[in-house]
Amino acid sequence: MRIHEHKREPQNRPGLDLSGLDLAKLPRHVAIIMDGNGRWAKKRGLPRSLGHREGVKTVNRIVRIASDLGLKVLTLYAFSTENWKRPEKEVGILMDLLVEFLTNQLEELHRNGARLIVIGDYKSLPARVVGAVDAAVEKTRGNDGLIVNIALNYGGRGELVQAVKALAAEVKEGRLDIGGIDENTLSRALFTRDIPDPDLIVRTSGEMRLSNFLLYQGAYAELYFTPVHWPDFTEQDFVDMLAEYQSRGRRFGGL
Ligand code: IPE
Ligand code: IPE
Ligand code: MG
Repeated sequence: MRIHEHKREPQNRPGLDLSGLDLAKLPRHVAIIMDGNGRWAKKRGLPRSLGHREGVKTVNRIVRIASDLGLKVLTLYAFSTENWKRPEKEVGILMDLLVEFLTNQLEELHRNGARLIVIGDYKSLPARVVGAVDAAVEKTRGNDGLIVNIALNYGGRGELVQAVKALAAEVKEGRLDIGGIDENTLSRALFTRDIPDPDLIVRTSGEMRLSNFLLYQGAYAELYFTPVHWPDFTEQDFVDMLAEYQSRGRRFGGL
């Protein structure tokens, strides 16, 4: 295994209370619906764009703590297929921030052994976004630390539609037998084929809905909702949330 020389120990983080957390029983995959940037800004009389900018700072903090704690996969819902309904200017700002994040954070991600991957139809985004994503994916491809999975131009229903089309084409070409289609076949046709299903789906800012996020993969995810707006979400909030997850009894339909 590769040694990440610059890996920090979460225990040595001043001010962070890990006493309620069992580091040996972390969820493998935490998926976050980062919501509330706009409301955070509105509350302060600021433009929504500043809320998004502040939200990127939270992304940096949470990626770092997730990596330090030794989490395997962190999925971040950055842009949904429904977010195209927003004003063009806001969409442009979100794209710019994404490019900025991928560019500015790439060295640090790489240094910490993180691997960046993307789910969603990102290839149809502006060329500057596609370029930044491809560069980040390429540079971090060989890393074996935290997988930072960005859901970008992602929608769960659209993902299922493309999976069904891909499987139908395989059947038509005689490469797949209908009777052989099972849940694994479908899982492997999803964008998430290389990562485990989320153990925990989190949404900030008080809304209690999935907004088209990981519909198939989240079948048995624990759900966690917090009223905190994404820009205000701290490392301690993340740790406390993991501790709360550890107090749940997951039964998967059994006893
Ligand atoms: C989440 O914050 C960021 C994205 C959807 C990209 P919002 O922009 O949805 O913030 P609210 O919900 O308007 O407060
Ligand atoms: C979900 O948030 C999408 C992302 C966080 C990227 P939205 O703010 O777009 O969701 P709705 O519109 O409140 O359902
Ligand atoms: Mg929102």
